[in-house]
Amino acid sequence: MKGIILAGGTGTRLYPLTHAINKHLLPIYDKPLIYYPIATLMLANIREILIITRSEDVELYKSVLGHGQQWGLKIDYAIQDQPRGIAEAVIIGEKFINAEPFALILGDNLFFGHGFKSMLHEASQNRQGATIFCYWVVDPQRFGVAELDKYNQVISLEEKPQSPKSNYAVTGLYFYDAQAVEFAKQLKPSLRGELEITDLNRIYLEKGLLKSVNLHRGFAWLDTGTHESLMDAGNYIATIEKRQGLKVACLEEIAWRNNWITDMEFLSCYENNKGSSYGSYLKQIFHIGKGSDDSSIIEKIA
Ligand code: G1P
Repeated sequence: MKGIILAGGTGTRLYPLTHAINKHLLPIYDKPLIYYPIATLMLANIREILIITRSEDVELYKSVLGHGQQWGLKIDYAIQDQPRGIAEAVIIGEKFINAEPFALILGDNLFFGHGFKSMLHEASQNRQGATIFCYWVVDPQRFGVAELDKYNQVISLEEKPQSPKSNYAVTGLYFYDAQAVEFAKQLKPSLRGELEITDLNRIYLEKGLLKSVNLHRGFAWLDTGTHESLMDAGNYIATIEKRQGLKVACLEEIAWRNNWITDMEFLSCYENNKGSSYGSYLKQIFHIGKGSDDSSIIEKIA
């Protein structure tokens, strides 16, 4: 399966931070924001990734991520210069998608929680239809909102409704079958002039092809659109990482444990990050070894 990350936009709500730097390259504690959606795709076993961004940011992305070989990935880039909506990413990615099922994730969405890998695995096995992930929030009017019946099936979907029918936000992670490209081409721009991802999902809903997964209350879905939420997300990751001595969204670790890179390649990632605590972590986990499960890593690090 392939994955698309939409990482464009001007980041106006984060000015002056984003005058010169694309929002998705800003730090979330010890790594750039874009590492988190890349890690999500890697956990879904996705190795071919298309990053869609503004033309002026492509070189910057390449200097941070290259083409992903260091993580056993193949990263390509495509351009969205105008904010014409999330669903446009599906049209832009048509050639890359190549009539196969794919995942789409927003570059500023950060997921963390137990059992996530198996949820992703299950969604990637669903070869027909679409899968969305819903999460209970206090301010649903800021998001796409799903109304669910007592069996947790979606009854309706609305984009940023003034009077939300539920507290379930639709998160920025979607799995689609190949039909998504044709459906996206049928969409008309909304009042804000965008091809809305909610409208695409509604097509699947109306055809009875939409599956929804609830991310439970112990799960973290963080967004990073404002100064405050950016800081909160950084503090959240710092708290978890400092407490356990284990990193969240460490791309080198995921690639190495998945055997997508050799020991030598892993060590060269270490060399590239030497001098930082991130680099020290890579060295530490290399010495502990791959076979270890989380609990034995914790024992050895402690
Ligand atoms: C977008 C989507 C919305 C979704 C949200 C998740 O909102 O339109 O449906 O809930 O991402 O982050 P936007 O980023 O355009 O405000």
